[in-house]
Amino acid sequence: MSRIAYVNGRYLPHEHAQVSIEDRGFQFADGVYEVCEVRGGHLVDERRHMARLDRSLSELRIARPMSAAALAVVMRETVRRNRVRDGIVYLQITRGVSRRDFPFPPRGTQPSVVVTARSNDLERLERAAAEGIAVITVPDIRWQRVDIKSVALLPNVLAKQAAREQGAREAWLVDAQGRVTEGGSSNAWIVSRDGMLVTHPLGRDILPGITRSVVIEVAKAQGLAFEERAFTVEEAYAAREAFVTSASQIVMPVISIDGRPVANGAPGLVASALRRDYHQHAEFS
Ligand code: PDD
Repeated sequence: MSRIAYVNGRYLPHEHAQVSIEDRGFQFADGVYEVCEVRGGHLVDERRHMARLDRSLSELRIARPMSAAALAVVMRETVRRNRVRDGIVYLQITRGVSRRDFPFPPRGTQPSVVVTARSNDLERLERAAAEGIAVITVPDIRWQRVDIKSVALLPNVLAKQAAREQGAREAWLVDAQGRVTEGGSSNAWIVSRDGMLVTHPLGRDILPGITRSVVIEVAKAQGLAFEERAFTVEEAYAAREAFVTSASQIVMPVISIDGRPVANGAPGLVASALRRDYHQHAEFS
């Protein structure tokens, strides 16, 4: 079955789905995106993803290309046309097409919209979660507004490639003070030596992960001791547990950091319980 993408008002086979070479997303990474989980044919936490999209657009002063209701229809139609039951829907909005010039294009330039969807092998994901993943640490060399979900992801690309070359699935980004901000495409968590669930506080230095916000609710419902504060790489090496969260992986246990096993080198109980209960707290629409 050929994959179908939505591009600026049309549903097209991927091989014909194209944007202009003068699209500002291509020229300047001048655009934003969202990745939303699809489970059982439903969108997961759509409301929160759309709220974050609105915020990203307004922070960058990119016009909303269509109403929220129209966008909701396009996402569902893209999921349907690709017959995705379990997977992700990807949405990208750029500042549109205009002759290459750094300042914003003329008023009235239409933003570009691309929506794609793809299936995930749930069994494979569950197997990965049962095994856990390795992470490496690399310096966080990103710009100072990574709370905006922009498509400017070159540092993340380099970090994740370094991870792959070292046999790891994720790279944890480390600030100048030796503290872990987040992963290349996920939020980072530990269960500290004293049993505290810890993740970096919100701010301009991390993406406000939707999965992160739901996991906080799950942790509260489970009565876990929880703290939002930065943790160092040294603290992570000594942690009882570590894991990452993202829309595509939900809660993924981390079993080694820079080649050192986390605790006994197996997925932790806290991470596994958060993963188990996640979808009871997520919104399906
Ligand atoms: N990545 N931090 C970064 C840098 C991310 O790119 C992501 C998401 C997250 C987790 O956010 P959420 O829980 O809302 O997915 C944190 C997506 C999945 C991606 O780029 O594919």
